[in-house]
Amino acid sequence: MPFYHKLGKIPPKRHTQFRKPDGSLYSEQLFGTVGFDGMYCNIYHEHRPTQVKQIKKQYSVAPKIASANNMLSLRLDGFAIKPEKDFLSSRKTVLTNSDCSIILAAPQESLRDYFYKNTDADEVIFIHKGSGKLRTFLGNIDFKYGDYLVIPRGIIYQIDFDSEDNRLFIVESRQPIYTPKRYRNWFGQLLEHSPFCERDIRKPEQLETYDAKGEFLVKVKKNDDIFEMVYATHPFDVVGYDGYNYPYAFSIHDFEPITGRIHQPPPVHQTFETTAMVICSFVPRLYDYHPESIPAPYNHSNIDSDEVLYYVDGDFMSRNDIKQGQITLHPAGIVHGPHPGAAERSIGKTETEELAVMVDTFKPLQVTEDGMKLSDGTYYQSWLE
Ligand SMILES: [Fe+2]
Repeated sequence: MPFYHKLGKIPPKRHTQFRKPDGSLYSEQLFGTVGFDGMYCNIYHEHRPTQVKQIKKQYSVAPKIASANNMLSLRLDGFAIKPEKDFLSSRKTVLTNSDCSIILAAPQESLRDYFYKNTDADEVIFIHKGSGKLRTFLGNIDFKYGDYLVIPRGIIYQIDFDSEDNRLFIVESRQPIYTPKRYRNWFGQLLEHSPFCERDIRKPEQLETYDAKGEFLVKVKKNDDIFEMVYATHPFDVVGYDGYNYPYAFSIHDFEPITGRIHQPPPVHQTFETTAMVICSFVPRLYDYHPESIPAPYNHSNIDSDEVLYYVDGDFMSRNDIKQGQITLHPAGIVHGPHPGAAERSIGKTETEELAVMVDTFKPLQVTEDGMKLSDGTYYQSWLE
């Protein structure tokens, strides 16, 4: 996140002696992204964070591709994903390309038996159902319905759920996830026209520090393989850190919609960006107020981006027969738009209660076997009159 955060205890000067009460040194780690050009933080551990005992297992979790070159508009029934106990095995990749993956998950149990570290990708976990606590080596964040949890690559974490009824929409990005640059000033501060500001960003506030030795299992994802690594010290042994590279939460309910007299284009909904995709929030808002306005969107040919919409709540005015938890994929290269009757139906409406997350990817998405199982097979014909 492009603003400074400090948690726990740190020495007054970086890269200097920082001693424990017994006189020994804390172990400093520079944790950065994009080589030494990206955001980073300086972390202070009870023990050296390098103490690998063994790698117990290595196995692939690469998604199996059903359609490598897809030209069909698809509707996927996300709530048909079966709940599973384990957090990692519950995650089902439904759409993917070399930049990002769209994942659905319905985990039933808190992740407590091991720690997880995704070195391939930043993660955005959107909480559709459920609440709990994201626990990381850089501090904890409480979450609930409507939260985006942004977890930069390399953050070691566990996750606690308050109940078994959880539904997650997860975006993994191989490029760093940032808030849109056009909403930040020269210093990184969010500008007045930004649909959210620093007060809406929830940083980790509660540091769990364990000074413990033993056997600690960390499942590390690298190049779509999981490495089951056993460490000799507890991964949550951080006494303090400062910098810019840390997990945070932002609630979709804190996104302030930008509206106008006529239909506003999708970028007004933009919440996050990378060099390869954007994530947008469609939230309850007043409709366009020109006397002749058509609130439903116009047909559009996103000629060079695939469009994924995840329907969270409320009526989605441009679609007929859309339910909670469904995903639509409108692939690059063809035109899509409102369903028959939707434009007329929208005229005169003054507001919408719709809540949805959109992911536009600049490279085409492949449909996985898990994704294709959720498809109704006929959505691409739903514009026929
Ligand atoms: Fe669209």
